[in-house]
Amino acid sequence: MPIRPMTLTDLPAVNELDRLSFSLAWPEGAFAAEMRNPNARCWVLTEGNQVQAALVLWCVLDEAHIATVAVHPAARRRGLGRQIIRAAMDAAIVEGARIFHLEVRAGNDPALALYEQFGFEVVGRREKYYMDNGEDALLMTLRLEKTEEA
Ligand SMILES: CC(C)(COP(=O)(O)OP(=O)(O)OC[C@H]1O[C@@H](n2cnc3c(N)ncnc32)[C@H](O)[C@@H]1OP(=O)(O)O)[C@@H](O)C(=O)NCCC(=O)NCCS
Repeated sequence: MPIRPMTLTDLPAVNELDRLSFSLAWPEGAFAAEMRNPNARCWVLTEGNQVQAALVLWCVLDEAHIATVAVHPAARRRGLGRQIIRAAMDAAIVEGARIFHLEVRAGNDPALALYEQFGFEVVGRREKYYMDNGEDALLMTLRLEKTEEA
């Protein structure tokens, strides 16, 4: 499946995907701002000319943070989430990333299962982190060396 850097023409589809995927969508303009952020790596996965998945990763030295990832509701459970995460992580590894972080809602079972497949482990909890429903955030980390040893 084609996975490539996000472009300005993707933004309407990416914003729509974000609104369909999150109860707290990113503000209008946030993805455009990330495309200008030198530490951000913004990716889309397309089928035909349809954006089916989007991901933003922040890279600083050997650390990378998955800021957001979403797959269109009609395209879920076909491995696209796994593919875009794998591609973004592989590119970050080439840049020098060795530790990956993310935050996920404590009740987001699909995302937790996906991250655990990659070897992410829960390392902390931010209580009542999400403003819409007061849900806790779980902090997850994957250390590359540990994965390689496994
Ligand atoms: C989480 C999300 C990105 C997964 O994308 P996806 O393309 O459906 O996931 P994949 O098909 O690649 O699934 C990979 C693995 O994730 C897990 N998974 C995905 N959806 C799941 C579900 N509904 N229930 C249980 N496990 C699920 C499974 O372990 C799956 O592996 P398997 O198919 O071998 O069983 C997608 O559900 C989504 O966009 N959700 C809304 C946004 C979101 O929550 N993003 C994460 C924020 S931290």
